[in-house]
Amino acid sequence: MLYSEKVMDHFANPRNVGEIADADGVGEVGNSKCGDIMRMYLKVENDVITDVKFKTFGCGAAIATSSMATEMVKGKTISEALKLTNRAVMEALDGLPPVKVHCSVLAEQAIKAAVADYYTRRGIDPTPIVGKIPECEEGHCGV
Ligand code: FES
Repeated sequence: MLYSEKVMDHFANPRNVGEIADADGVGEVGNSKCGDIMRMYLKVENDVITDVKFKTFGCGAAIATSSMATEMVKGKTISEALKLTNRAVMEALDGLPPVKVHCSVLAEQAIKAAVADYYTRRGIDPTPIVGKIPECEEGHCGV
């Protein structure tokens, strides 16, 4: 079996799909190699992510990792959410095939991009807080 049961579950029944009309931060990232795009919406109250939704125009692994990533940051503080790595998301999904590792980077990038937008909207420079939005290890994922 190429994909774990958890990956199949999150692919078939992705959590937190959709948009937040009055979002406090929206991030969109793309993978320049495959052309897939992910958009992440955050609702933030007192530094806590109270709601999160995503839309992914992409492959099954990208959908499963975004679904799991939204579950992992919901209810967390922004600084906790910024610590979420694509590796942690993959581990929570019981792994991904090596050729699909780069897809999981989209989810990490999208959360960071949405947080950066949240700070920018509040007139705060996000760069010292969010840092550089990470790129895919093999250099596949341009933003
Ligand atoms: Fe494009 Fe997976 S192949 S994100």
